[in-house]
Amino acid sequence: MQRIIILDFGGQYKQLIARRVRECGVYCEIHPYKTPLDKLLAMDPMGIILTGGPASVYDPASPTYGKELFEAGIPVLGICYGSQLMAYRCGGSVETAPVSEYGHTSVKVDRSSALFSDVATEEQPETTVWMSHTDYIAQVPAGFRITAHTDHCPCAAMENAEQKLYAVQFHPEVVHSVEGMKMLRHFVLDVCGCSGDWKMDAFAERTIRELREKIGEDHVLLGLSGGVDSTVAAALLSRAIGDQLTCVFVDHGLMRKDEGDEVERVFGPGSDFHLHFVRVNAQDRFYIRLAGEKDPETKRHIIGEEFIQVFGDEARKIAEDIRGSGRRIRYIAQGTIYPDVVESGDGKTSDVIKSHHNVGGLPVELVRELGFDETPVEPLRMLFKDEVRAVGLQLGIPRELVYRQPFPGPGLAVRIVGNITKDKVRIVQDADYIFREELAKAGVDAQLGQYFAALSNMRSVGVMGDHRTYGLAVVLRAVLTSDFMTAEAAEIPWPVLSRTMNRIINEVPGVNRVLYDITSKPPGTIELE
Ligand code: XMP
Repeated sequence: MQRIIILDFGGQYKQLIARRVRECGVYCEIHPYKTPLDKLLAMDPMGIILTGGPASVYDPASPTYGKELFEAGIPVLGICYGSQLMAYRCGGSVETAPVSEYGHTSVKVDRSSALFSDVATEEQPETTVWMSHTDYIAQVPAGFRITAHTDHCPCAAMENAEQKLYAVQFHPEVVHSVEGMKMLRHFVLDVCGCSGDWKMDAFAERTIRELREKIGEDHVLLGLSGGVDSTVAAALLSRAIGDQLTCVFVDHGLMRKDEGDEVERVFGPGSDFHLHFVRVNAQDRFYIRLAGEKDPETKRHIIGEEFIQVFGDEARKIAEDIRGSGRRIRYIAQGTIYPDVVESGDGKTSDVIKSHHNVGGLPVELVRELGFDETPVEPLRMLFKDEVRAVGLQLGIPRELVYRQPFPGPGLAVRIVGNITKDKVRIVQDADYIFREELAKAGVDAQLGQYFAALSNMRSVGVMGDHRTYGLAVVLRAVLTSDFMTAEAAEIPWPVLSRTMNRIINEVPGVNRVLYDITSKPPGTIELE
């Protein structure tokens, strides 16, 4: 399979570069800058992209790479710090720029460069890019030519086309670089010669084949949460090994309305995924353990602990049943995706920190006791979220499940302020269902990062008909966010909020007030607890 390697020098946009390369239909992986050249070459890359990074090439402590990288005959694109490293290693010089550039910057490009052939126009070869640098290339190495400049940066891009070495001082991977995607596409397709055949149907086919080969006659256990990742992992595994897969879906009673049934409908008896599906209706166990508990962190803790108990009990039973029939569960599977791998292993694709403590949701001690392999099967390990979704659709999972918004592991527990009761869960489920329905009807749901109804712990006085009421207040929350680290409250059209309020008051007993949460994050969080 053709691949591009992204060498990580500590740049904050490494994942974004990887996303963009994948958008070109080319498979890529992020590796740390310390990866030795022989290891890189063994991966047989079609090209290498060097990320940006906060360091200066002359700092002895800076992440660096030897000259041999640029002499290996593999096309290289250096971005920002990566461009300076290329200049420095190939014999040019890098200095502190007299004027550091940050933000949208107009750059004049030489359209005879393979990177810029269709960027801007012949008459006005100028485009907007995103700059963020304090050093710059003061002198280009012998054999290189300058192919772009700005008012303050005499070398905003350089290349040695013969050796297929390209460098850009700006960040083509961020959306603010208006034609950045074109430049990356030119590099990976034209310069590196990739054919752009990384497609999700091919991925699904290949992965199913590989899973079949790896697993053989053994059995696999997967904890299915109903979230996109574990759902797609289940679908892939079921296509690969059918009834050698057992999925355990722990219904903790804190799912959204009808969600547990929907998961069961897709994977349960009679579905066209021929796997063993076990739904553990543990609602009461969770409600009992949570009874009277008000502290958010304790609630989270209880849910985590109880989940392990329930899932562990079930895993033990299933393992024994299967052993009784002369076979064995060898693997536990989990829906780890690429951002989890990059974040937890700092780009070292072989090292998922989480898996040292738990495997697919079970503590490693229990996994050992049950005789399962300690390395989980992770079929989605190299995929980004939108690629996971594409595979899900390929495999016939309904759109509603594939495009679900993120849902926290502890479920509605973090959306019910204070103690949890069955009745409060019912209220929040019904109110949330109405809110989602109204947003979808109005066609505004697709623009939102996350949206839901929550339940405040507030009771207030109201009047309905001729009666005084003393009911609970539902909180509606809808945020715009791209990274979930920061968020803005969304401006939902008033009539939509108004209709939602009316329906909740009329259709959900126990509620007499509806509030809209306009808090951004920070200072608030997205969830209420
Ligand atoms: P906050 O509330 O911290 O949420 O702004 C940010 C994102 O994380 C999700 N979230 C969780 N996800 N377990 C999860 O799997 C949790 O305990 C948890 N708490 C928050 C939240 O839904 C949002 O997408």
